[in-house]
Amino acid sequence: MGPADVLKKIGELKARRKAVILAHNYQVPEVQDAADFVGDSLELSRKAAGLDAEVIVFCGVHFMAETAAILSPGKTVLLPEVEAGCPMADMINGRELRAWKARYPGLPVVCYVNTSAEVKAESDICCTSSNAVSVVDSLGVDELLFVPDKNLAAYVARETGKTIHAWDGYCYVHHRFTPEDIRAARRRHPGAEVWVHPECPLDVIELADRTLSTGKMVVEARTTSCREIVVGTEKGIIYRLAKENPAVKFHPARETALCAHMKMTTLEKVLRALETDTHRVTVPPDIADRARGAIQAMLKII
Ligand code: 13P
Ligand code: SF4
Repeated sequence: MGPADVLKKIGELKARRKAVILAHNYQVPEVQDAADFVGDSLELSRKAAGLDAEVIVFCGVHFMAETAAILSPGKTVLLPEVEAGCPMADMINGRELRAWKARYPGLPVVCYVNTSAEVKAESDICCTSSNAVSVVDSLGVDELLFVPDKNLAAYVARETGKTIHAWDGYCYVHHRFTPEDIRAARRRHPGAEVWVHPECPLDVIELADRTLSTGKMVVEARTTSCREIVVGTEKGIIYRLAKENPAVKFHPARETALCAHMKMTTLEKVLRALETDTHRVTVPPDIADRARGAIQAMLKII
């Protein structure tokens, strides 16, 4: 079957099953093009919560589909590739968080959305890279625990002035960016602005012009006066940025910044998901109820 036939079948099945396809900004171009909505983690969570659909096909990684399942308990949530997990989310589990927070009685726990439902269930409030600073500010405390991304935690500590105890987790894609990547990109593209994601190490963030979530990069690119931008995040977002802003040139800060897990989803797997309900993502109700509290606390803030 050629790509046009696959797309046609996806369209037919979507209509028959009242399905909606959500895709993260890092997905491969053909999956972004087939999606009803493309966004960052926060936008996709909000979208999943408000959808009038029976089936959600989540083209992203496991924690995103799990978040959608928590927010939409009556819907069928499908992850087209069962192996598409987030290695950072796997760096802490519920048992580890319980033991860690017992060492800091009374301190609130903020969990990045890149965590399992079990970890969200042990947390007071969730955040994404788009709203982490506002979420931490909203707590009205000077000291807190943050899991699992130590880089995002360091950035938020810098922005808020709070004392943040961070779990030793990181995203392998962003953690590999180095100050020399930024300096070399500036040499290659003098005059370009440098935008990086807050999952990058702080010494990389310090050399950038702006620090933005993928969703904020998409929004800011629409009104920027820059004609060239170096992008320090997973390379997949450049497809969307370039498609929506043909007058701006976007350069990856490093060509090899690719998340293998985000690239596992293909159009064929989206079709298979709709045909065979693979792979259905569910969360046990007791965990979902507690995790939903942390996610909804975040959604109330921003
Ligand atoms: P955002 O899209 O929320 O910026 O997050 C990036 C990411 O790494 C998602 O896995
Ligand atoms: Fe996880 Fe990083 Fe891949 Fe996002 S880009 S899914 S944080 S490993």
